[in-house]
Amino acid sequence: MKTNFYLTTPIYYVNDKPHIGHAYTTILADVLSRYHRVAGDDVFFLTGLDEHGQKVQQAAEKRGLSPQDHCNDLAPRFTQLWERLQIEYNDFIRTTQPRHVMLVQQVLQKVYDSGDIYADEYEGWYSVAEERFITAIEKESGQFRDVKKLKERNWFFRMGKYQTRLIEYIHSHPEFIRPLHRCNEILGFLRQPLGDLCISRPKARMSWGIEIPFDTDYVTYVWFDALLNYLTGVGYLSNEEQFKKRWPADLHLIGKDILTTHAVYWPTMLFSLGLPLPKTIFAHGWWLTGDAKMSKSLGNVVNPLDLIEQYGVDPVRYYLMREMVLGQDANFTLESFIKRYNSDLANDFGNLLNRVSGLISKNFDGVVPQAGVLSAEEEPIKTGGEQLEGKVRKLIQELSVHEAIEEVMTLIREVNTYVEKQAPWKVARTDLKRAGTILYTSTEALRLSAVLLEPVMPSKTRTVLDILGAPGSKANWGGLKHGTKLKSHQALFPRIELEKSA
Ligand code: ME8
Ligand code: MG
Repeated sequence: MKTNFYLTTPIYYVNDKPHIGHAYTTILADVLSRYHRVAGDDVFFLTGLDEHGQKVQQAAEKRGLSPQDHCNDLAPRFTQLWERLQIEYNDFIRTTQPRHVMLVQQVLQKVYDSGDIYADEYEGWYSVAEERFITAIEKESGQFRDVKKLKERNWFFRMGKYQTRLIEYIHSHPEFIRPLHRCNEILGFLRQPLGDLCISRPKARMSWGIEIPFDTDYVTYVWFDALLNYLTGVGYLSNEEQFKKRWPADLHLIGKDILTTHAVYWPTMLFSLGLPLPKTIFAHGWWLTGDAKMSKSLGNVVNPLDLIEQYGVDPVRYYLMREMVLGQDANFTLESFIKRYNSDLANDFGNLLNRVSGLISKNFDGVVPQAGVLSAEEEPIKTGGEQLEGKVRKLIQELSVHEAIEEVMTLIREVNTYVEKQAPWKVARTDLKRAGTILYTSTEALRLSAVLLEPVMPSKTRTVLDILGAPGSKANWGGLKHGTKLKSHQALFPRIELEKSA
């Protein structure tokens, strides 16, 4: 039986073009999906767009478009970028799709019928930027722009009712909110009385949303709508078989700025529906430029498309996965990108390919030699190669992608050192058999490394495997066949000269 693995990205607001933060989460989800698929899991990877709410409505107004036209115009920018970035998702959800609108209305009716939704008049400070009422303490903090006093009748979800149950659940499920410091943050937040959640907006003020089925003067608060995408995507209330197979989700990947909505609102909604909670909500950090978060509203956005045009998709995927320690913030600079590219990809990975293929071509007419008897020099390389898949798999299970990559790069560096020390170009003059053993060993380690980096760099690793005549081969030692004619090739990762990029 295959293990099911259902993972999601946030659905992105369609208020502007996609940026590096969006690209990051989506690439991360893709990399994890690919590792799980290789391991034989039945993966379902859901991503999509959050098309309702005030931010989208305002963005559309600015462009003089209807919100729906605005969304239809911007949606392809996301799907095209995902195609360019080689994202292999299983479903792409847009919250304006009928399947989702229907689901949200059915859920609202269900929760209303169960008594967990009620109407109330509320007066308080409303943050336009946050699209929610803020507390007096939050108002004092001065952190919120566009704050105004509002008095309104609205619909409320009895979130507070589930506070104790949620706290107990978090305590008894250490994998639920990760990393640990985020889990503690949520537990800290839950020390205050939770209160209920306002889940409606009067159409008179904000009309771009899903109509509340039992009160047509109102639309649904965008977060109550958006979170439900994770159920729509796997057929809740429409495809029982799919839903039974896929739910609960194994992994919601999110950024730390949307932790409260995912780790507090969402589980209480699921409690009310009587559904199991996702196994893990993982909040990653931010990509920063200098000290500021890159975001659409700040306008300091590095366009991933520009980087790809210049340096290719794989190096960008590699950089984003290698550079961010999952759960912490990371600095995005062109300098660090180039440094990482030159050291890991040009000097280590690309160089190893060049060396072994050059030496094999010079000494063996480009045909992979046979490995003779291995000496003590080869043993660490072979053992390292044999253990690599297990190590990588374990680190991926732990969501430590940067360390998984580092394991592979460590082997590559060891092999480069090994080739340097063994100097097969010298050995070949006196002992061709021994030179063959050295070159087989190093080429096989290269092949194995390419197989294990394939989820991170799907194109370049396939090129390597193609050159080695081993496309589709597995990560077990000995997969490289002697007698294979290597294909000629150009430099895999030509060095980036710093002057040129300035
Ligand atoms: O929040 N570095 O959408 P969104 C890393 N629609 N991640 C970043 C980032 C950065 N500089 N900037 C943004 C929403 N992100 C909602 C989600 S889910 C039911 C609804 C991440 O387009 C951010 O952390 O504002 C968040 O996880 C994601 O991009 C979506 O941002
Ligand atoms: Mg945001």
